Amino acid sequence: MTAVLTIEQPAYFDRLAEVEAAHWWSRGMWRLGAHWLDAALRGCQGLAALDVGCGTGQTALRLACRPEVGSVVGLDPSAEALAHARRRHTFPLVRGSALDLPFNDSKFDVITCFDVLQHLPQDGDRRAVGELHRVLAPGGVALVRSNAQGWTSASPAVEGGYRLGDLVKLFEASGFTVRHATHANCLPALVQELRGRLARPGRGGPSSHPSGGGLKIQLPHPWVNRVMGGVATAEAVVAGRLSTRLPFGHSTMLLVSRRHD
Ligand SMILES: C[S@@+](CC[C@H](N)C(=O)[O-])C[C@H]1O[C@@H](n2cnc3c(N)ncnc32)[C@H](O)[C@@H]1O
Repeated sequence: MTAVLTIEQPAYFDRLAEVEAAHWWSRGMWRLGAHWLDAALRGCQGLAALDVGCGTGQTALRLACRPEVGSVVGLDPSAEALAHARRRHTFPLVRGSALDLPFNDSKFDVITCFDVLQHLPQDGDRRAVGELHRVLAPGGVALVRSNAQGWTSASPAVEGGYRLGDLVKLFEASGFTVRHATHANCLPALVQELRGRLARPGRGGPSSHPSGGGLKIQLPHPWVNRVMGGVATAEAVVAGRLSTRLPFGHSTMLLVSRRHD
């Protein structure tokens, strides 16, 4: 059985670096957000981008490939994560925390922050969202992804998971305008919900991540990866290009902007 890894373990980042570029989940999630960014950044050039909690650098790499983006900085508190990121690209990487971003006010035009908020200490999310607002330029946009809570009152609680409405309120309370908000990864969430309901008591219910019980982050069989990639692409079109809010899923995604002063 594959060991469950968590972000406290250096091996987590070794595994993440191995699989994330090709994993259906990582690619599908990026496609969804990329549809929103396509519309929000149309016509822009030379934008300064920041990836907060950059891990091994895959999102920063994807940001750097966007035609509107001129420069990218990655930030993460983990030395192991940054060591992986450093092997993959040459743009600036900063060791630091979302709770106290080491950047001047209004420095960035685009910020991404994926699966970081749920790892912060209690009330850290409020502080981190305030920091995102501070370093984002007026008119700039931030793309944020986080874990979601289960979608019915019978679903087991997901540690650190957000109700979509609560995440929206959190960003609005810091002064952001929420331009898009949706759940994502509907199908895996539905399958796990059903499995959880059918599981006999004591046999374990649904887990909180599409790759299985905990963060195993392994690449599935190629045909599973292809099929699930197709599902994730379809979901990205519905939620991303067509801006349809999906009612449940493993993740929450927001595109927010900072108002002009
Ligand atoms: C689940 S990983 C996600 C990594 C990457 N964003 C991605 O989507 O693959 C969570 C990341 O948040 C980082 N992290 C934890 N605490 C943080 C903090 N206070 N500020 C910024 N990043 C943090 C971890 O080091 C880790 O890289």
